[in-house]
Amino acid sequence: MTDSRREFLKWLAASPLLVSSASLARPEYAQPANIKQALNIAHLQQLAEAKLDLDDYHFIVGGSDDMATTAENISALKRVKIRPRRLVDVSQIDTSVVLFGKRYASPIILAPVGNQLRVNSGGELATARAAVDKQHLMISSMMSNYSIGEIAEQGAPGWFQLYPSPNREFMAYLMASAELAGCDTVVLTVDGPTRGNHEAERWFRQNRDRSLPVARTRLGNFEAYSGRAGIGDPSMTWDDLSWLRGNTSMNLVLKGIVTAEDARLCRKAGVDGVIVSNHGGRQEGNGRGTMDVLPEVADVLSGKMPVLMDGGIRRGADVFKALAAGADAVCVGRPYLFGLAAGGQDGVELSLNILQTEFERTQIYAGIPESQGISVESIWR
Ligand SMILES: Cc1cc2nc3c(=O)[nH]c(=O)nc-3n(C[C@H](O)[C@H](O)[C@H](O)COP(=O)(O)O)c2cc1C
Repeated sequence: MTDSRREFLKWLAASPLLVSSASLARPEYAQPANIKQALNIAHLQQLAEAKLDLDDYHFIVGGSDDMATTAENISALKRVKIRPRRLVDVSQIDTSVVLFGKRYASPIILAPVGNQLRVNSGGELATARAAVDKQHLMISSMMSNYSIGEIAEQGAPGWFQLYPSPNREFMAYLMASAELAGCDTVVLTVDGPTRGNHEAERWFRQNRDRSLPVARTRLGNFEAYSGRAGIGDPSMTWDDLSWLRGNTSMNLVLKGIVTAEDARLCRKAGVDGVIVSNHGGRQEGNGRGTMDVLPEVADVLSGKMPVLMDGGIRRGADVFKALAAGADAVCVGRPYLFGLAAGGQDGVELSLNILQTEFERTQIYAGIPESQGISVESIWR
């Protein structure tokens, strides 16, 4: 064989054109053809990318500016290592956690994500059914295509996520709808005083084929409101929280806390819980990874109120690391969206199954029979 032919065959073997047939024998090239072949969240991401139009795929994976915050969420988790303990009886393990007096089978919660009909025709209803079947708490977004009432009908109301609005009456209306649907907790997202710079989304919008109609999707929570809705209020401050408190009996959780200073203000304002989050890197584009942020927030708030964390969780071991660094539970966004895109309700269930199984495996290796017993001793930075 000539050198150039050898080079050509080497190039061909590495080419994505051959990957699907080669992948059967070569797991390092694995490209699952359907969710039955998916072994991990990365496989679900591959399936989502293959299935979705590019603009819808970028709706999921996109972040702000150069996506540095999005990437940092993942690398901050990868930098942390596990310190396993040996010869502990881990033949039975318990992964349940208690939040606001309710016990949940798993510490893995579905983060609020709007507009899920872009990802799959089942939208938030498919996600909600998967959450109920797999016994995970789901936080519904104010920006969901289906209303909180329709989502709650799938079997569990979960928690409701709210954005600030300049129209306080609209916020009160949304909280009343959530309470009516059975939600006991409202999650106010406080990391978006302006819109994140999502260049991929802007690119697709700017360069779309203008001869095609723009697909219209519903915003279920807005439909029955007759006033002016309005999303985002850069004038909102800590002082406004007492208004919120006075207008709902739900627990109040702030999503987007990333400093000890703000954690202290949460205590002062009497909020009931926080989610350490940078919106998966979709707001400011030069943030720290949430795993790096978590200890300073947990130092102020652990034991006083539930501290949740999200951002960059792609393996069950990441869940374990977050719990060890002081989180009471974690939320995941993109992992279940990849599942939803790849296979609707079944895909979401698979994504939750994968993360839960990996988490349990890590907990067993670490020698911790109960999730409640996971502590900072189990990790190394
Ligand atoms: C496509 C998409 C839409 C989102 N929509 C919302 C939303 O409506 N409200 C909200 O508070 N957070 C929203 N988020 C942020 C998630 O709740 C969560 O903070 C983030 O996805 C966690 O990072 P991860 O995707 O790496 O798990 C969205 C995230 C994505 C990827």
